[in-house]
Amino acid sequence: MPFDRSVKIAPSILSADFANLGAEIRAVEAQGADWIHVDPMDGHFVPNLTIGPNVVAAIRPHVTTFMDVHLMISPADPYIGDFAKAGADLITVHAEAGPHLHRSLQSVRAEGRKAGVALNMTTPVSVIEHILDDLDLILVLTINPGFGGQKFQSAMLPKIAQARALVGDRPIHIEVDGGIDPTTAPKAVAAGADVLVAGSAAFRGGSVETPEVYGANMRAIREAARAAGS
Ligand code: DX5
Ligand code: ZN
Repeated sequence: MPFDRSVKIAPSILSADFANLGAEIRAVEAQGADWIHVDPMDGHFVPNLTIGPNVVAAIRPHVTTFMDVHLMISPADPYIGDFAKAGADLITVHAEAGPHLHRSLQSVRAEGRKAGVALNMTTPVSVIEHILDDLDLILVLTINPGFGGQKFQSAMLPKIAQARALVGDRPIHIEVDGGIDPTTAPKAVAAGADVLVAGSAAFRGGSVETPEVYGANMRAIREAARAAGS
């Protein structure tokens, strides 16, 4: 898809019903999701275990927008090929996850996928300063990764702005992940984010039987963010 810096809502299926992932994805897409955010975790890099390449492959046919896969696994390199073959459109690796971040990004692009770098809260933007031509997305964590439902850390707002300033005119998305809701989304967008991941705030109170709740949740985030962007 052509590069586009308009605000995109990426519901994280970490907050969806895991027994019903295909239907959950179809529901949020029908209700206006721009991307689908997927959170593999290894129980080692983060203290939680979630999904692997088989599940990503199983949900792939249900995603008609763009599958954004945020790997919280270390080392990531041995699994990049598996997640690419499973159908991820974009694969994000953590800057802290392996010894050679640039090699990981090269592996993602060699698989024909877009490549992202996630920055934990204590990781400075400067780690990617010299490799900007090799990435498509910077994910700024505004929580400690591993779980949904945590509080947005406003101390990361200057870091979002720093990442945005660093990319300049380059076609690199700035994604913010953690604690995004209608209150925090405008702050993230004002700082320079264009992709907003939302887990609990997107899925809260809804189900595949009441998908309009997902629509209202995402609309509330989008409208609040739009007010900040203009
Ligand atoms: C956490 C994940 C997030 C998570 C966000 O490690 O990376 O994508 O789903 O959840 P909320 O939006 O509830 O903070
Ligand atoms: Zn995530």
